[in-house]
Amino acid sequence: MRTETAKTIRLADYTPPAYLVESVELSFKLHESATIVSSRIRFYRNPAASDGGDLELDGVGLKLKHAAIDGHTLNPGAIVITDKNLTVPVTELPNGAFEWTCEVEINPAANTALEGLYRSKGMFCTQCEAEGFRKITYYPDRPDVLAEFTVNIEGDAPVLLSNGNLLEQRDGSAKWHDPHPKPSYLFALVAGDLVSYDDTFTTKSGRHVDLRIFVRDGDQTRCAYAMDALKRSMKWDEEVYGLEYDLDLFMIVAVDDFNMGAMENKGLNIFNSKYVLASPETATDTDYELIEGIIAHEYFHNWTGNRVTCRDWFQLSLKEGLTVYRDQCFSADMRSEAVQRIKDVQALRSRQFREDSGPLAHPVQPDSYIEINNFYTSTIYEKGAEVIRMLAILVGPDGYSKALNLYFERHDGQACTIQDWISVFEDATGHDLTNFKRWYTQAGTPIVKVKTSYSDNKYTIKLSQKTKPTPGQKTKEPLTIPIAYGFIGADGQQIGDNGVLEFTQKEETFTFELPEEPVPSLFRQFSAPIILDAALTRDQQIHLLAHDSDAFNRWEAGRALALATLIKIVLQDQSPDASHLNALKTAALDDSADPAFRALLLNIPSEDEIATTLQSKGTTPDPDKIYTARRNFARAIAAHFGQSLTTLYDDMATPGPYTPDAKNAGRRALRSAVLGLMTAIDDTASMAQAQYDNADNMTEKLSALRNLVTAEKAEAALDAFHAQWHDNPNVLDKWFAIQVAAAAPEKAVEITKALSQHPDFEWKTPNRFRALFGGLVQNTSGFHRKDGSGYAIFTDWLLKLDALNPQTAARMCAAFETWTRYDKTRKAAMKAQLDRIAATKTLSKDSREMVERILKA
Ligand code: TRP
Ligand code: ZN
Repeated sequence: MRTETAKTIRLADYTPPAYLVESVELSFKLHESATIVSSRIRFYRNPAASDGGDLELDGVGLKLKHAAIDGHTLNPGAIVITDKNLTVPVTELPNGAFEWTCEVEINPAANTALEGLYRSKGMFCTQCEAEGFRKITYYPDRPDVLAEFTVNIEGDAPVLLSNGNLLEQRDGSAKWHDPHPKPSYLFALVAGDLVSYDDTFTTKSGRHVDLRIFVRDGDQTRCAYAMDALKRSMKWDEEVYGLEYDLDLFMIVAVDDFNMGAMENKGLNIFNSKYVLASPETATDTDYELIEGIIAHEYFHNWTGNRVTCRDWFQLSLKEGLTVYRDQCFSADMRSEAVQRIKDVQALRSRQFREDSGPLAHPVQPDSYIEINNFYTSTIYEKGAEVIRMLAILVGPDGYSKALNLYFERHDGQACTIQDWISVFEDATGHDLTNFKRWYTQAGTPIVKVKTSYSDNKYTIKLSQKTKPTPGQKTKEPLTIPIAYGFIGADGQQIGDNGVLEFTQKEETFTFELPEEPVPSLFRQFSAPIILDAALTRDQQIHLLAHDSDAFNRWEAGRALALATLIKIVLQDQSPDASHLNALKTAALDDSADPAFRALLLNIPSEDEIATTLQSKGTTPDPDKIYTARRNFARAIAAHFGQSLTTLYDDMATPGPYTPDAKNAGRRALRSAVLGLMTAIDDTASMAQAQYDNADNMTEKLSALRNLVTAEKAEAALDAFHAQWHDNPNVLDKWFAIQVAAAAPEKAVEITKALSQHPDFEWKTPNRFRALFGGLVQNTSGFHRKDGSGYAIFTDWLLKLDALNPQTAARMCAAFETWTRYDKTRKAAMKAQLDRIAATKTLSKDSREMVERILKA
């Protein structure tokens, strides 16, 4: 069945490298299809390695022209070359340090995987994380080999960039030097006909830093927001973490062909253009928010990732979890803490909880992998961030800041492990982290059950925790779970003190002295990534929604009510209960509350979230019923709110020219939620059409267009949109996505099919591919059409993409990760497609690992 043997890499097999690198000099002669890469690498024996062995260098797809050691050419018989590496036997090596030189030829134009050196719209660019550098030249391509890089570039382009500082620049050539030793995954090179948008920043110790964002000519008008976000990130890291930038130049390059969001290459971040370019006419409030967060994320990696890097890829969350936590805190400081937290938790639940409850579940620190690219997951990133957030709660702000100071003091310049990180917290704070550590090694989302009782002024909370088995982990141990809590009295006021419980055993009981029986508000701000089974009554939830001083738990109570209502509609065809609708109305119309928060209250839980909830109650979810239930719920809310919707819609208008700040974005979000409700009971979609015609910004255009598409009144608007934006790839992606994502479910497949034949469907570009097929998956009941046609068209294209771009194709396999939860017919249809993928002889090892894991469910 297998064509190539895919090796499983295990954490337990880690061994230190036999040779380390003192310095690297690379010279590129750029050519579209025949780039010559010359390297000069000074190796020395690693004193920490058991003994000096053979020199083993990674290398994939390289045409070796010449290789020498200390200037002596190695004849072909002296080295062993496979499709993955090159070995120089120890017998060919001098005793001490030596210099390896070699010349290879590579073909960037043929590189459709977008890993290594490749072409994007006429420019050269690189992506080396995790293991792309080996597609550029022979090298120990592992993160625990750090070296100082010097890079010469010769090429026929006005802009020639690499990491660090520019040493020399001539017509057609440039020389760069990066003084900070770094692993190869942080190497970057860019060459092309680019223009830059420039600014400067002075660090708190007085270093002058040039900031440059490189884009294609014409796009410099859409860089201001990203630049501003960068400067705010630099300032925030100084103020909150005491961390300063460490070079005289910081560059960002925007490229259209990119597998992920962005990459933190030292001094030369490379970004998916959708996370850089923004203007009011082209970007939505959500785009602005994402740009701010991702600019910050990549910038923050300069310390958490680059200065302190990972020993091996099992430590990936050491940099990613921490950096996500940092960017979440940054966004909370820039915007609203409560709103940011709610959005982060929504994302966590929809992606990470989904992953953690299915066949792809794995720990924050996995113990094995086949293809590391498959482990850039929500668990590594978002659950990793939650684990750090819990640590911060457990040790308190002072403990956290002590620990972080020690982390940088002890580990700057090193390649570290997650254990190093934990030791820093133990050493700095003395906190016992024995049970806490298991968050890193144990997969699955714990379910926390709460039972309460009250008598004689004693309020007792009895807690138990349980984590279901996950692939490869049958038994689970108790974890340390921080529970931020408060108590609400019958009058809506807080009673007793707030605090944090440290719940560390399988079962534990906590007792409080309270004058009356309270409504408990537990896991405030979602203090742990768990599923809470609190068994609150509807009245208690309504009480929390109205009175909890913790905004997160106010929203959480609203969500619990909404889910309960939706489940009733699905299972018993019952209409929403009036007390729920009243409570929602009061909260949503409360002028004293932040509009962004009220918008979140009006968001109806997604189809996937409803399906997950049904599944957890042991019911097979029916995607069609779920779709209808959501719509009926929206209609019931709209009918119940009545005229107040129109008033609210008018009140939330943002006068004057568009500004992307959180305050106005919040008003637009609330307005857009209201528009959705109004359109649900208006077949003419007249308000949506009016908003589409009058909006001067993409946020309002797109929310109008979404409603028009759902109401099947979008034909004219879609044509106008295409005519206006067909030359702007980022905006055109929205046009593709929305037509499918917002389509009536029974139309989604045929629309996808038609759009896949559209001349603008540049499927080799990941953003465009994800726009269309990610859009289809988002249309939950359309994708899960009972005849299986959604699965089939998705698979046709997935296989097509896999042949060119395994990394992006493999990530999309996760669309099938919930396949076992559905009815017999759908399950069989999905299994048939999974089998078909697995039976593809030429399938990439990336996608093969994914489907084989998914099929094991
Ligand atoms: N390290 C990057 C980040 O967290 C993400 C990343 C990993 C990536 N591998 C990649 C980006 C491959 C693009 C392509 O921001
Ligand atoms: Zn990252």
